[in-house]
Amino acid sequence: MKEERIKTYIRGLDDHIQGGIPASHVILITGKPGTMKSSLAYNILYRNALEEGLSGMYVTLEQNRESLLANMAGLGMDIKNVEKLMCVLDLGLIRKKLKQLGSKSWIEVFKMYVDNMHKTMNLDLMVIDSLPVLEVMSKFMEPREDLFRLMEWLRDLNITTLIIAEMDQGSDKFCEHGEDFLSDGIIHLDLRREDNNVNLFLGVAKMRKTAHRRGYFPLIFDESGFEVVTH
Ligand SMILES: Nc1ncnc2c1ncn2[C@@H]1O[C@H](COP(=O)(O)OP(=O)(O)OP(=O)(O)O)[C@@H](O)[C@H]1O
Ligand SMILES: [Mg+2]
Repeated sequence: MKEERIKTYIRGLDDHIQGGIPASHVILITGKPGTMKSSLAYNILYRNALEEGLSGMYVTLEQNRESLLANMAGLGMDIKNVEKLMCVLDLGLIRKKLKQLGSKSWIEVFKMYVDNMHKTMNLDLMVIDSLPVLEVMSKFMEPREDLFRLMEWLRDLNITTLIIAEMDQGSDKFCEHGEDFLSDGIIHLDLRREDNNVNLFLGVAKMRKTAHRRGYFPLIFDESGFEVVTH
């Protein structure tokens, strides 16, 4: 089942982006280290599986599958609750496939994997965590052009894709190679120090086909999930 918009399940946000992310768009989730990028992206897959019956694949290139699943279960998102709709692919699994298919490049094997999962599960959503590791593993020669092609390929598959980018400490650049121009949307997570507290803020820096507010809103995570405070 394809939805026109994919809900982020961040309370308070969906109402501000016309109901959610336009389906089949490629969205960057960016922020400095430790800004809950992975948790937020996983939550979008998890809640859409649980409540909308949408299928998703989380590609974790930084952390192995077991450690990611344990982290997320600790945050109240146990994959057992959505087993038939959600799968997690890690670098080890891609490497294993790569060994079996010696003549293929890393990115070809990655695409083959996505294609196969798409055929079996009819994927609605995918997360790639993270873009810098994807770029290194794929040995992109022309990062902008190669990424442009990858994003077009994902759009053609009709999979709504969240790509996690990383911002360097002390930098205002959303990502390294101008991927922000290529993507259909950018969700920026920002840590700010106020008095002695470090608080998390969320801003929608860009969302094609969508009228959205530009401000940064406090982002809260608790047992009922993510919420932005918009008033
Ligand atoms: N309610 C909460 N509010 C703020 N932070 C939390 C909360 N619950 C957990 N955390 C912590 O936030 C940290 C960062 O989460 P996460 O790994 O999703 O961030 P990230 O941006 O993906 O980090 P990295 O840059 O390492 O990939 C985790 O250590 C997690 O335990
Ligand atoms: Mg992460």
